[in-house]
Amino acid sequence: MDSIVIQGGKRLEGAIPISGAKNSALTLLPCAILTDEKLTLSNLPRLADVDSFGHLMNELGVSTKIEGMHKGEIGRRMTLRAENLISTVAPYDMVRRMRASILVLGPLLARAGDATVSLPGGCAIGDRPIDLHLQALEAIGAEIEIAAGFVRATAPGGKRLSGGDFTFPVVSVGATENAVMAAVLAAGRTNLYNAAREPEIVDLCRLLQKMGAHIEGEGSPHIKIEGVEKLHGCTYAVMPDRIEAGSYACAAGITGGSVDLIGIRPEDMLATTNALVQAGLMIEFHDHGMKVSADGPLRPLALSTAPFPGFATDMQAQFMAMLCRAKGESFLEETIFENRYMHVPELRRMGANIDVRGRSAIVHGVDHMTGAKVMATDLRASMSLIIAGLAAEGETEVLRVYHLDRGYERLEEKLSAVGATIERRGGG
Ligand code: EPZ
Repeated sequence: MDSIVIQGGKRLEGAIPISGAKNSALTLLPCAILTDEKLTLSNLPRLADVDSFGHLMNELGVSTKIEGMHKGEIGRRMTLRAENLISTVAPYDMVRRMRASILVLGPLLARAGDATVSLPGGCAIGDRPIDLHLQALEAIGAEIEIAAGFVRATAPGGKRLSGGDFTFPVVSVGATENAVMAAVLAAGRTNLYNAAREPEIVDLCRLLQKMGAHIEGEGSPHIKIEGVEKLHGCTYAVMPDRIEAGSYACAAGITGGSVDLIGIRPEDMLATTNALVQAGLMIEFHDHGMKVSADGPLRPLALSTAPFPGFATDMQAQFMAMLCRAKGESFLEETIFENRYMHVPELRRMGANIDVRGRSAIVHGVDHMTGAKVMATDLRASMSLIIAGLAAEGETEVLRVYHLDRGYERLEEKLSAVGATIERRGGG
């Protein structure tokens, strides 16, 4: 297994190109199932999860073709075509490896009136059930049965879903995505209340509108969908990754540096930029993105994660790493997932002083941290260890970097380009 080795203490300085958003790509890819015409997605990030999703689509009979980058683009292009589906089953070994595979449920149900997906099981950060996905699909007209670790959703008589109204008791990004993708080809109208408002939801709705779907209210808690008979293909660019951008901003903060995040849309990450400013960083917005610079010592923060437009849970671990070096006590509260502090024991091994009580953590700022061999456990926890290693004295080796490769494209290349001493070491 590969590891990443960092010699800490270098101030980051320079421009980092931000890739297409993983959490948008993973909901845009299954939209190819909703039409028999070609769907081309551009600005796709080179990530393990995107490749895995492409393999899942192939299993279902969707052809996929990777094209090179077009002039002026930094991401790959992939053309997908679901002319004829050969399967409506997402197998266990695929769903087990990548929970986002569950996002084929809604599109398969809408296109074929039948979908079977292995129950995803838990993951490092929590149980992550899919009950809200299933409740929403039932409200839109699906019949759901669960057996032998699989969920099977069918439209009455294998035909079209009726559409319907559903209020999410808890905001859920994935359940909102599955419900939207199921509703766009339904026979009638669907109203989703307390829907997720993340920019990735808006990106999904913009793609579907470009394919001919009738959707209103995306980005608000009330999404209204008039089902249509058919959707057509199109070409669409994946939005930039607000979490990747926020992660590198934290790297700038902890190293006392200044990084220019190229291609980011500031409106996607206002809660993050507000928190960065409160922590003492300086933000300069410009036509191609925004520059984030340290501006004196880091200040402690009180942060509570929340659904968009609140402070993103996907940014919690990265801020915690940066705040290990703040002058004073920071207070973090993780309200979305029940076990998203896996990075804490590893940060402690680097000299961090953190107390965790349930979903709350108090980070006592320390003057310095020391490099160590640390273990990645989940995607964002891995990034928090990289961030800490960039500022720690001596060498940090992060093991099990396959977690990182799921969500950060060319990490060591991008960080080396702004002055980090970082390399990938083959695990053998
Ligand atoms: C998406 O996961 C993201 N993944 C996650 O990013 C992100 O942390 C999360 O949204 C919250 O923003 C992708 O987009 C691929 P949820 P998702 O449904 O859709 C509970 C990363 O690091 N819940 O909004 O799975 C759930 O357990 C990843 O990039 C139910 O109870 O998240 C959680 O506590 C990690 N029942 C809360 O809701 C359900 O049916 C929010 O989960 C669904 C969710």
